[in-house]
Amino acid sequence: METVWWASEDLWRKVAIWITAFMTVVLIVLTYDSLHAITAGGESGRVKAYSVINNRVYYKFDKERNLPVPVIGDSAPLFGKTLTEDEAYALVTKGKITTHAKNCMGCHTFLGNGAYYAPDLTKSWLDPAWGSEGVREELMVTFLKDPETNARGFGSDRKMPNLNITDEEAHAIVAYLKWLSTIDTNGFPRNFTPISQEGDR
Ligand code: HEC
Repeated sequence: METVWWASEDLWRKVAIWITAFMTVVLIVLTYDSLHAITAGGESGRVKAYSVINNRVYYKFDKERNLPVPVIGDSAPLFGKTLTEDEAYALVTKGKITTHAKNCMGCHTFLGNGAYYAPDLTKSWLDPAWGSEGVREELMVTFLKDPETNARGFGSDRKMPNLNITDEEAHAIVAYLKWLSTIDTNGFPRNFTPISQEGDR
């Protein structure tokens, strides 16, 4: 007996091949589309160019979007040194690679990815626990180099272990954390109150 057309194996094999091919094209298009949105310094404006670490960062409530968004302010060079885009890229990248090498994600989250033992680090540059704007960068370096003695109590009794981070690595990590805090994350993490700073309102 002949099989009816819709039950033929040949038809469904062709359908499977065509759907796979079509979805591959969709995946490629979506990949390019998100690359455009996540590229540092890209037109979407969500992820800032690395040289943003030369500026002050604060948060403003955007009424239209109903969430707080990062705003880039006046010149405020990190560690008092204005960097070119290339130098800033090198420093931020070194910081990012160090966070991978030391597996910070084993305890922390970045942009919500990682483990939930310790606080999310996306906006840690703006954490009020650093006390004041003026001392923040040096405090962060000191903390990273020896978190056991310099614990500030970021909302828990947990202590961060000493990870033998060098002075150079600590500076690079702070640059990475400052750059990270400028990313427009659609209000993530929620209910976050940034450190109060001069020029902030
Ligand atoms: C073994 C777990 C663990 C690892 C690994 C770890 N941390 Fe931590 N981290 C903690 C804990 C716990 C705290 C909270 C400490 C406190 O309150 O004193 C913390 C706090 C911090 C803070 C302050 C957070 C804030 O809200 O401002 C920063 C910044 C930080 N860690 C950066 C790092 C970086 C960078 C790495 C990787 C190089 C790292 N941590 C690796 C456990 C860890």
